[in-house]
Amino acid sequence: MVNIQQLKQWKQDGRRIVVLTAWDFAIAQLLDMAQVDIILVGDSLGMVTLGYKTTLPLTLEEMLHHTKAVCRGVKRALVVCDLPFMSYQESPQQAIHSAGRVLKETGAQAVKLEGGYPAMAQTVAQLTAIGIPVMGHVGLTPQSVHRLGYRQQGKTVEDADRILQDAIALEQAGAFAIVLEHIPADLAQTITQKLMIPTIGIGAGFHCDGQVLVTADILGLTERQPPFAKSYVNLRDVIGEAIQDFSIEVREGKFPDIK
Ligand code: KIV
Ligand code: NA
Repeated sequence: MVNIQQLKQWKQDGRRIVVLTAWDFAIAQLLDMAQVDIILVGDSLGMVTLGYKTTLPLTLEEMLHHTKAVCRGVKRALVVCDLPFMSYQESPQQAIHSAGRVLKETGAQAVKLEGGYPAMAQTVAQLTAIGIPVMGHVGLTPQSVHRLGYRQQGKTVEDADRILQDAIALEQAGAFAIVLEHIPADLAQTITQKLMIPTIGIGAGFHCDGQVLVTADILGLTERQPPFAKSYVNLRDVIGEAIQDFSIEVREGKFPDIK
């Protein structure tokens, strides 16, 4: 079993952390069998598996439902559940309530939330104080799409410094790891060197302590992908062909066999 205490040691040892997203039992089983270290039930599932245009409509109930399914498929990996938009931003109390439901009802060991200082420092500190591990997420934060778009963040000196301060504040508040999304590689390197806790990069270059991508993107299941994603197989084509083969065999009377 991967646990939170190990992760700092892995960073010190230079052991890179493998993180991928999951949204159901079957995908979670495959990731876990492949020794993926951290399985993130990301709110990207709202777009990838539920068809929402952004991550904003996803509800806590929907996240709990999917996270339960994921946890049933996992034996070894650490499971982290994204807190969806407006399930934690109102107040630390709201965040405690939502994160508490995640830990009580799903089997996930930690939550992830977006934002840094000052918005989330207090919330992360309170969650950590009552024993709920928190993964931070700074840089491009998709729940802020209407303010930020999906553009790379941290390109100006001021913006880069703000993201660095966000990351430092999250570590001080007790976060056990931080996702750095779509920021310049040199900024991610600076943050990674300054922090004791591991950084998990997505579109943040080579120097992070771990890497995460959306599993549907690496499998080629998504119609469109961010510029930093990489597909290792095109499952849209593979699945399309299988569906076509089945359809042809049914229509031509080749499946199932007679007798
Ligand atoms: O929702 C998600 O999938 C994420 C990761 C890509 C970091 O937040
Ligand atoms: Na997310």
